Amino acid sequence: MYDVMKGLLTITLSAACIVLAASCTGNSGKLKSFTPGEIWPDNNGVHINAHGGGILKVGKTYYWYGEHKTEGTAGNVAHVGIHCYSSRDLYNWKDEGIALAVTHDPESDIREGMVIERPKVIFNEKTGKYVMWFHLERDPQYIDGRTGIAVADAPQGPFTYIRCTRATPKSWPDNVTDFHKGPVAEGLQDVTNLLPDQDPDVVNTLGRDFEQGQHSRDMTLFVDVDGKAYHICSSESNTTLHINELTDDYLDFTGRYIRIFPGRRLEAPAIFIHDGRYYMMMSGCTGWAPNPGHSASAPSIWGPWEEMGNPCVGEGKETTFDSQSTFFITLDDGRVIYMGDRWRPENAIDGRYVWLPVEFNEDGSYSLRWQDSWSL
Ligand code: DGJ
Repeated sequence: MYDVMKGLLTITLSAACIVLAASCTGNSGKLKSFTPGEIWPDNNGVHINAHGGGILKVGKTYYWYGEHKTEGTAGNVAHVGIHCYSSRDLYNWKDEGIALAVTHDPESDIREGMVIERPKVIFNEKTGKYVMWFHLERDPQYIDGRTGIAVADAPQGPFTYIRCTRATPKSWPDNVTDFHKGPVAEGLQDVTNLLPDQDPDVVNTLGRDFEQGQHSRDMTLFVDVDGKAYHICSSESNTTLHINELTDDYLDFTGRYIRIFPGRRLEAPAIFIHDGRYYMMMSGCTGWAPNPGHSASAPSIWGPWEEMGNPCVGEGKETTFDSQSTFFITLDDGRVIYMGDRWRPENAIDGRYVWLPVEFNEDGSYSLRWQDSWSL
């Protein structure tokens, strides 16, 4: 099925690729620039299929992991798995195949048709394993709110699925208050999103999920300079972000975590460190539709996190240039690239990528500015 689709796509996208090849490759036929929002052909001339993705650098090679989408609205859920590509220059990507495949076992958590989103891969120096975490919903109503974990011996996989879990069951965050340890509002349901007039610190979503574990929806992973890894996710019915510390093997939560931006209803977290300061970007919660971005920074992963407003400047800033944050790539020389998704929910496979350079400002904030085409 995947091969057939790949073949069809090669034919249907070839015209677009020829146009692209004329505009952004040199005589070598290789891409030499980023063209945000355009078709991005891989080494086979097929539009890259790695949405909600993240990048891992291994030696001199970058690996891009993302959701493999299929055609139509049905393509918004997982029918294939997590796709992996490799590159030495970040412009030209080789198809490395499916790193984590969905199954056809009706008992499996990662069976075809589940929501498998925003995969991120990190390498564990101690165990020598590549560790993937992703958002998993085994329920079309999005009330599962889980994170899945898989491991591999090689960056391109194949990854073996281990398990899924809610975040940090039976643990209180460092910044818990007595209120959270008290009663939960009567009738408070375990829902995808709270009603607009419900405040998590009035109805007590944290207390609601204490026993079974906290929601883990849109997520990312981050390895700090000391090798400690963190899982950052949208929690408490998409109202509050949580930063969770991972165990030394990166396969579990230690139980230590903090809540950040309570009640701000942010998702799509992406994080980077620059000159010793931690920076984050998030979106609002409007499904597949774009909205204004949010930025924040902190002196430590544990905060205090301070919001710094919409980092986008110029035309298109109200929609994050028709994109939603997924990851930041930090180059060896310290430059940082924003990776965003331009979702196409009516034909998921046609989703585009918006990669833009991060500009640092004197006041300690960062900005994103639209560019039709740019290079490093
Ligand atoms: C917004 C999230 O950021 C996406 O990853 C996806 O889950 C959509 N919502 C689904 O509506």
